[in-house]
Amino acid sequence: MPSILSPYQLGGITLSSRIVMAPMTRARARDLKPDTDTATYYSQRAGAGLIISEGISISEEARGAVFIPGLYTDEQIRGWQAVTAGVHARGGHIFAQLWHVGRAGHVSHNKGKAPVTSSATRGNTMTFALDENGVPARLPQSEPRALDISEMPRLVEEYATAARNAMKAGFDGVEIHGANGYLPEQFINGALNKRTDAYGGSIENRLRLPLEIVDAVAKAVGSTRTGLRVAPFGRFNDMHAYDDEEATWCTLASALSKRQLAYLHLSDQESLGQTALSKDIALKMRKLFGGTMVIAGGFGFESGQKAIDDDRCDLVAIGRPFIANPDLVERYRNGWPVVPNDPSKFYGGQGPAGYIDYPTYPESLKQ
Ligand SMILES: Cc1cc2nc3c(=O)[nH]c(=O)nc-3n(C[C@H](O)[C@H](O)[C@H](O)COP(=O)(O)O)c2cc1C
Repeated sequence: MPSILSPYQLGGITLSSRIVMAPMTRARARDLKPDTDTATYYSQRAGAGLIISEGISISEEARGAVFIPGLYTDEQIRGWQAVTAGVHARGGHIFAQLWHVGRAGHVSHNKGKAPVTSSATRGNTMTFALDENGVPARLPQSEPRALDISEMPRLVEEYATAARNAMKAGFDGVEIHGANGYLPEQFINGALNKRTDAYGGSIENRLRLPLEIVDAVAKAVGSTRTGLRVAPFGRFNDMHAYDDEEATWCTLASALSKRQLAYLHLSDQESLGQTALSKDIALKMRKLFGGTMVIAGGFGFESGQKAIDDDRCDLVAIGRPFIANPDLVERYRNGWPVVPNDPSKFYGGQGPAGYIDYPTYPESLKQ
């Protein structure tokens, strides 16, 4: 089996290794757009074979927390242009993760309007939103409303527009965030989605919106520039078990196999303290999908290589180790030490601390 450090051809781009930087929200966009620190942060990590950006809101309605950057205004697009230029200047590649949180939102994010979802059941999860005094606080998600069937075309179009904006911003592709209990999964999950129209009920109906999104985005930017991230059997964001769960994920993998996507990205939430993604399901989905498979969740150099050796995936996405080790791939290549993370610095914060002040290993020797 190939080395995790060897190049990989992903559609039209050649990745320098099979190590992907997993999408990681940092909640630092005070003006909802990336700034020069964001550009520095990503360019420092351009040694990843592929970077998947933090989740980026496709619209105001889509945003789930304070300080999340968007991709729906000219200013935001300009901010991302600086990010992608910095990554490309250092020989890297970067996809934009397109994010709509659905019900996992709050009225303070969208001018008092309720978050939208498949069926109007509130998630038992907290979100970082603005309290009645406009101060950021951990608050329960707001009461959502079910999307009307007449709204589906405009929702799908918002994903396509965000994908086109990602191209204007210079991204190499986009990843649709269908994992972790956000909007697409709120339609897929049969325990939450109790709709009686064409978007609920049967597996085919529950997969309708996610597949419409995939098709619209692929049409907008090209299928080989379109990836999808899902978290089969994930319970994050108050997702519950349902009867035909395995059949649902397998049907999705089969449906995607016909679409020539850049990749299918499975997020295993076990390393985040949730239930594990079973190897059996992941292998079944890999077989049914047949294209490039990315797996994320708790990997390092050796375990990542093992996942490739076991033919579980083509690319290994690594998250948290990239935060404090901007030159993670170089550290792996040279057998240099990987420093631990400080989770208190993951979200929020302003300025360089905990964001762009992590040295490369050679720099650390000079300090
Ligand atoms: C700080 C932080 C932010 C994250 N933000 C996102 C996100 O925006 N989109 C997403 O799909 N997953 C997100 N995740 C999940 C990661 O992509 C990844 O799946 C998870 O961290 C497990 O991988 P790891 O064990 O290598 O860190 C986030 C995780 C962390 C720790």
